Amino acid sequence: MADLQNLSLSTEGSILTITINRESKLNALNTSTLAELKEVFNSVYDDKDIKGVIITGAGEKAFVAGADIGEFSELNEMNARKFSEEGQEIFQLIENCHTPVVAVVNGFALGGGCELAMACHMRVASANARFGQPEVNLGIIPGYGGTQRLTQLIGKGRAFEYLMTGDMMDANTALSYGLVNYMEADKEAAMDKAIEILGKIGAKAPIAIGLVIDSVNAVFNHDENGYQTEANAFARCCGTEDFTEGAAAFMEKRTPEFKGE
Ligand code: COA
Repeated sequence: MADLQNLSLSTEGSILTITINRESKLNALNTSTLAELKEVFNSVYDDKDIKGVIITGAGEKAFVAGADIGEFSELNEMNARKFSEEGQEIFQLIENCHTPVVAVVNGFALGGGCELAMACHMRVASANARFGQPEVNLGIIPGYGGTQRLTQLIGKGRAFEYLMTGDMMDANTALSYGLVNYMEADKEAAMDKAIEILGKIGAKAPIAIGLVIDSVNAVFNHDENGYQTEANAFARCCGTEDFTEGAAAFMEKRTPEFKGE
């Protein structure tokens, strides 16, 4: 992997932590940060040793405070669709990744930051987390999937409110709306929670985990029959060595040893 300027990576056990590292700009996503995210996720797809990914922001103040508004002056009606589609493609790469991804939201998750958190499979917030899609304040709308995923996660009426007012949502509200899975006192506790969740998942059969991700994502893909996707995924699981091992381990009253095969 080429030298990363905007992300720092660390691996503990089988969990990769990706930290967006532009603290002076509240970790805003500029073009090169997005390109680095794409590169890192492409490598996660190929790395069987990584059983879970955490995305977080450097510092205590922000997860990601949005797309980098400093780059917005270059946007016009001709190039903005590509800008949006390229961002959407990177976030879909995260959403469709067969390795579970948890966002540890440690402060502001605004605009593209909220969209990034929502593209992850789960979210754990620190108590100071603030979510929002404030794009309307700039005369635009979210372009990295925010209108879709916010509606999927919190429902249409609430999504309309936050998308049209640009208001920020505190962590308690995000928890009660189901936008986040857990709220913890601070970033450290939120990291611990994410590690706990990913540790549990890491002990399961990796092929089954990847197919859970495909099947749940199918709910939101209008071109796909989710029940058919589920049936195909179920059949695929039944052809794996891990299924043989899982069933045998149950009968023998022992812990299964899954190999991802
Ligand atoms: N893009 C580029 N730079 C950003 C940014 C963004 N989305 N969000 C924050 N920054 C920069 C600020 O310009 C400032 O840089 P500077 O010190 O060089 O002037 C630095 O990060 C700190 O931000 P600041 O606004 O001074 O912090 P604050 O505590 O007063 O306010 C926020 C925090 C999050 C409320 C405020 O930064 C904000 O509203 N950011 C934009 C959020 C947004 O609209 N995101 C969606 C974009 S589509």
